[in-house]
Order: sequence, then C-alpha cells, then structure tokens
Amino acid sequence: MNKGIFIAFEGIDGSGKSTQVKLLTNKLKENGYKVYSTFEPTDSPIGSIIRNVFNHRIIADNRTIAGLFVADRLDHLLNETNGILKKIEEGYIVITDRYYFSSYAYHGVHMPMDWVINSNSMSSDLLKPTINIYVDICPDESMSRITKDRSLIELYENKEYLKEVREKYFEAFEKLKEQENISIIDGNRKPEIILDEIWSQVKSLLG
Ligand code: ADP
Ligand code: TYD
Repeated sequence: MNKGIFIAFEGIDGSGKSTQVKLLTNKLKENGYKVYSTFEPTDSPIGSIIRNVFNHRIIADNRTIAGLFVADRLDHLLNETNGILKKIEEGYIVITDRYYFSSYAYHGVHMPMDWVINSNSMSSDLLKPTINIYVDICPDESMSRITKDRSLIELYENKEYLKEVREKYFEAFEKLKEQENISIIDGNRKPEIILDEIWSQVKSLLG
C-alpha cells in the first residue's frame, strides 16, 4: 500500500504533462495501485471562471487570475466530495496535472514571486507533493505542439510568455530546493521513454 503519495506534474503549456499523467496512471493501475488523477484549473465553479478567462470569454487582471488560482487550489485540496486530502485519506495515490509551482511560474512573471508563494502557503502547509515532476521542453517545441492540435490559442499560450514562465519555474525550483522534492525530466523524447524514467523514480517512492 502507498503511504499517501501525491505526485504533481509541472511544465509549460504543451510540454506533455497530461500525456504523462495518463501513462503513469495506467502504469500504476496495472501494478495494482488505487490511483486518482486530477488537474488544475479544476472543473469546480472556481475553475470554470478561470477557464473562461483563458478562453477569452472573461477579461481579468493577472493579479485577479493569481487570486482565483489560490481559491481553486484550496477547493481542490479541501472539497468534501473529491478533494485531494480526502482521496489521500482513502488510500489513493493522487496525481495532479499542475499544482502550486504552476502559480509560482505563471504569475511570477507578473508580480513578485514571493507574493505568489506566500498567498499559496495555506496549500503548501496542507500538502506538499511527494515529488514535483517538471517535464521540460523549450517554448518553440511547445508552441508547435499547441498550434498543431488546436484552433483556439489560450491566454498565456505565446512563445515569449512561455519562455519567461520556463525561467520562472527554474527560479522557483532554486528558491525552494530545500523544502521541495523536484525532478526535472527531458520532455523532448518519445512519451514511452519519458514514462520509463518517471516510472523508475515513482517506483522508488513506492518502496
Ligand atoms: P500538456 O498537458 O503539458 O499541455 P499534452 O500532454 O496535452 O501537454 O501534449 C500536448 C501535445 O503534444 C499533444 O498533441 C500530445 O499528443 C503531444 N505530445 C505529448 N507528449 C509528447 C512527446 N513526448 N513528444 C511529442 N509530442 C507529444
Ligand atoms: P492547462 O489546462 O493545464 O493547460 P495546458 O494543458 O496547455 O498546460 O492550464 C491552463 C492554463 O492555466 C495554463 O496556461 C497554465 C495556467 N495556470 C496558471 O496560470 N496558474 C496556475 O496556478 C495553474 C495551475 C495554471
């Protein structure tokens, strides 16, 4: 049985996080583990406001967006129906596609990163990931993957911004390296090869 394992995937848009969340979820299930996979922005009412900002239906200031993510994350953790803390309590391995490092990186571009870290301190006190897995690709590759797939380009999906976000991720990892378990994975390889590397790290957490 797992001892409350919580895995957070991080990366810029189009880095392949969702693909790896699916592959890892399947791998864990094949190996007999109970797995709950989830994502941010969530599908709660707060998450749906955020999605409406990203698809340009609602206009909001970047500071407002950062605040919405603080609330969405607390609901993600604390929701009594399907909150992460409840799922962990029930013995699930929980995998999330994005968690607070996304806020540090994406909002750290617009405002002091320490503000973003402090405003998320309730979440980081409640639950730190057992491991933060950062899938690293360059913004050029990310944009070519995003534009290949979709006609609607979301709010933060442009190369210059994603370049800054990637830099902010590395700044946040450096800042928090004593408090957090961070693994940086080269995302420029085939999905199955990336999964192999992730799987060997996750296996060692499972004991
Ligand atoms: P994210 O969740 O980080 O936005 P996705 O997993 O949705 O990324 O992947 C974005 C796009 O890139 C999708 O079309 C997906 O099929 C493709 N993709 C995912 N992983 C890889 C990979 N390792 N190499 C090439 N393309 C990939
Ligand atoms: P997501 O649906 O994960 O996009 P993708 O699959 O393309 O990576 O996330 C939507 C957007 O939300 C993405 O541009 C990153 C942004 N975001 C923030 O700005 N702050 C946050 O705290 C989180 C979790 C996401």
